[in-house]
This record gives sequence, C-alpha cells and structure tokens, in this order.
Amino acid sequence: MKTLLISMLVCVVISMVFLYGCSSKNKSCTKTQDFDSIRLYKLRNDAGTEVKITNYGAIVTSIKVADRNGDFADVALGYDHVKGYMNAVDKPYFGAIVGRYGNRIAKGKFTLDGKTYSLAINNGPNHLHGGIIGFDKVVWEATPIKGEGFSGLELTYLAKDMEEGYPGNLNIKVTYRLTDDNELKIDYYATADKATPVNLTNHTYFNLAGEGNGTILGHELMINADNYTPVDETLIPTSKIETVKGTPFDFTTAKPIGRDINHNNEQLTFGGGYDHNFVLNKTKPGAMTLAATVYEPTTGRFMEVFTKEPGVQFYCGNFLDGRLIGKAGKPYVHRGGFCLETQHYPDSPNQPSFPSTILRPGQVYQTSTIYKFSTK
Ligand code: GLA
Repeated sequence: MKTLLISMLVCVVISMVFLYGCSSKNKSCTKTQDFDSIRLYKLRNDAGTEVKITNYGAIVTSIKVADRNGDFADVALGYDHVKGYMNAVDKPYFGAIVGRYGNRIAKGKFTLDGKTYSLAINNGPNHLHGGIIGFDKVVWEATPIKGEGFSGLELTYLAKDMEEGYPGNLNIKVTYRLTDDNELKIDYYATADKATPVNLTNHTYFNLAGEGNGTILGHELMINADNYTPVDETLIPTSKIETVKGTPFDFTTAKPIGRDINHNNEQLTFGGGYDHNFVLNKTKPGAMTLAATVYEPTTGRFMEVFTKEPGVQFYCGNFLDGRLIGKAGKPYVHRGGFCLETQHYPDSPNQPSFPSTILRPGQVYQTSTIYKFSTK
C-alpha cells in the first residue's frame, strides 16, 4: 500500500529538459496557445512500469515496461524534446491523441444535415488526422488523478466551432490511467453544441524490442478481425467490407508482421505495406473486446489491445525511413514501429454504410481502449 501511495504521487512534473526552448516566443510555436503551460507528467505503477505524457497534443512520450528477464525498455517511439513534436518531420503523430477526426476524410469534404464542410487537404488529396493544427498540436489542460490501483492524467480541450473547419464547439476529455495490472487505459469523452463528426484515437508507435531497436517485422501480430476495409490508391475506403481470408490481411491467427508484407497485392501496394482499417469481430457494437495481440519473441514482451471501437487501423510505420533519430539516439528505420489505432472506419462521414461518427447535441461520445503489457 505504501509503495502504491508513493507511486501514486503521480504526474511528477519533470519538464525542464523536455521543455527547454519552447515558449510563446519560440518561432516553432505557431498557434496562439499557452505554450508556457506545457508539462511532462510521469505515471508509475507497482510493477515499475512508467508512462510519460505531455499535455502538448496529449502525447504519450514514453512507455517503459519489463521484458521476460525484468529488464525495462521504452517501447514507444517519440522525441526527447517537445520541439520534436512541434516540428515533426513528415508528421508521424507519435503518441498523440488525434482528432477531431482521426484518419482520412476523402477530399477534405463532407455533408452533414444538408450543409457541406471543407477541411484542410493535408494528405495527398485528402484530409488526415484533424487537419493542420489537430488535437495533436494543441495544448490541453492537464490534471493528475489517482485511485485504488491506478495513477493517471485527465486532459481536457475545447475545440472551437469551425476550428480546422469542423462544426460545433467540442468539449473533449481524455483520461490516461496506468493500472497495477500493467494496463494503459484511455477513456475518451466528448460533447458538442452542433452535430459534428468525431473519431478520436491514440497514435502511439510501438516497438516491443525497445524504440530504435530495428524493425517490427518479427513481431507476431493477431488482429481479431475477419474483415477489413480495402482502400483506393489514396487510402480512402472503397465502401466494401472484404474478408481477410486467403489474403496477407489475415491476422486472425498470430503471424510475424513481415511474413506476407512483400506479397504482390494491390492493397499492400496502395498502403506501402499495412496501413488499413480492420473491422473488429464484435458480439455487440460498443462492447469492450480484444482487438489485437502482439508478441515480440526476443524480449518476450506481449501486448493486448482491447477496445469499444468497431475498427483498428494497423499501420506498420511505412513512412519511417531512418531520418528520425529516437530518444536513445538510434534511427527509426523503415517499419521501425507499428500503430494499432482503435477507431471508427476512415471516411465514415462520407460512407453511409459505415457505423456513424456523428455526435449530436445532447449525446455523449464515450469510448475506451486498453493497451495491456505482460511477458511470455
Ligand atoms: C495513420 C495513417 C498513415 C500515416 C500515419 C502517420 O496511421 O493511416 O497513412 O499517415 O497515420 O504517419
């Protein structure tokens, strides 16, 4: 209990090194925001697991977990300095909460209740991850929280009506909890004063061998999905829901990520590898169920992902190319990290057959995802 209490003296502000160089006078800080209030918080549990989160972009900057021998490594890709996140080369969205709409909206346009909205085109011909200054690039209000068996951080942000082109004031709350069961639990809430699309997710890149330790192609991945949503060459779903059976997209039984990645397959060509939304097998819509598991054989680290969301974007770091140098000073090579972005399907505002992402006044958006760590 004592250790618990001590470890729950949470959210220690350890920001000076991380923050050096960022102030409202810094040229890289382009939006009128209170950059001086950016902090880095640390959560720690009884198992010695440590998670760091900054209120800039609600970004998870580090996740230190043990391997099968009890040796700790940071399994989340990121920067050791907030400026890295602000100036991000190729915008990898390391660790961030992305929104208001995570993933793509075709041609940056959607029509809602008879009105057409135009959003920033920031990914080929499409809109990606909420726009130019999405939720990954704003300063959130942060409050440390603690309770029996967990320590955490509550983050809130008010996205204004027409911010990045989206209708309605959107009040968002995201809580991160690190439990003594080694779960990183993320709960999302939002309310709006006008109908608006909402699709929030977390964009952590994992390398369970430790960030910067080579590719993730040997990680064994299981995705609890019999179907996926194939895309066109700009990564917008074609509207079809297709079986993974007999394709490289069949992860229903765990297999190394790299096993089928070089197959001659149009979908893999479009994505430059895996960059696709999987339709999760659910007994009931909104049920919290197992979405995926990942096992890294050399260290024995094992991660399970649970979510209430209907889909997960499995992205295997196809855009990493060795130019970014990680926290331990090692380059993030091509496919040096993978994301399991729990979410609604891409482009849902334009795809009537997909589960709706529209939040209306009076409704509460609520969803949850858990990343649980252990060893085998
Ligand atoms: C998502 C997208 C990818 C890529 C990354 C960020 O996962 O689906 O295509 O844009 O974000 O680099």
